[in-house]
Amino acid sequence: MRHLMSPLDFSVEELDKLFDLAGDIERNPEKYSKKCEGKKLATCFYEPSTRTRLSFEAAMYNLGGHVIGFSDASSSSAAKGESVSDTIRMISCYADICAMRHPKEGAPMVASMKSHIPVINAGDGGHQHPTQTLTDLLTIRSLKGRLDNFTIGLCGDLKFGRTVHSLIHALVRYKNIKFVFISPDELRVPDYITEMLQEKGISYQEVIRLEDVIGELDLLYMTRVQRERFFNEEDYVRLKDFYILNKAKMELAKPDMLILHPLPRVNEISVEVDDDERAVYFKQVQYGVYVRMALILTLLELV
Ligand code: NCD
Repeated sequence: MRHLMSPLDFSVEELDKLFDLAGDIERNPEKYSKKCEGKKLATCFYEPSTRTRLSFEAAMYNLGGHVIGFSDASSSSAAKGESVSDTIRMISCYADICAMRHPKEGAPMVASMKSHIPVINAGDGGHQHPTQTLTDLLTIRSLKGRLDNFTIGLCGDLKFGRTVHSLIHALVRYKNIKFVFISPDELRVPDYITEMLQEKGISYQEVIRLEDVIGELDLLYMTRVQRERFFNEEDYVRLKDFYILNKAKMELAKPDMLILHPLPRVNEISVEVDDDERAVYFKQVQYGVYVRMALILTLLELV
């Protein structure tokens, strides 16, 4: 039985197969509409989410399966003090697969060790968010036709943003990727990540101003400042509007640079940019459903 805790749990070849499957699902949705008949997905969300939880639910319904679960820790037995290990043992009796989001780093991993069903990490604290990374990679592969040979700018909260951490780890396995980290000093990418890049001899640059580098980028991955992970509100307020991508900045960008964002967006991309054909963050949401469908089928060994 397999779980998904980190994007590195799948080899590059396995990811290729997963993305091919997601592509087939996109083209032939009918073919997959009954694959999960009689199967249940449990969504155990101990932290707020709209997109990820609904994306998993939509994915399971599109496959003809059912969904049970909770979207708020206060309405689950966690409020009575139950451990994730006990919760997953119980869920293992009710469902065939589980997607878990938790504010504590490593909680889905702890759950997976006691689970009798595949567990998917749907985001653990500031650590990892592998299914967002699968979504990001599928979006890039589908719209750019490749996952190698590009310069990617990651902008915003690179310290607390788990989507950023997961994406960097996944991209280092592809050839000739150049990273440009764009953040205020306080929100720089953690040292353990830059050390990993140095060890692997992968090129990266750290800058503060988006305008200085936007013209070099093939992809721009924007992120919101992660308010819930700040220790004090004052710092959040000072940093929250540090970057605002608007039409004027987009004029400096390459004509085929894609803008990705895991969403939710707060202020970091002005709505005037939404009509730019380079803005693909809503398409990305659609790819998220296809890739989660492919993932559920793969972990349930239905392909
Ligand atoms: C992201 C997350 O939860 O980390 N959202 C998502 O799942 N698409 C990004 C964020 O909350 O900023």
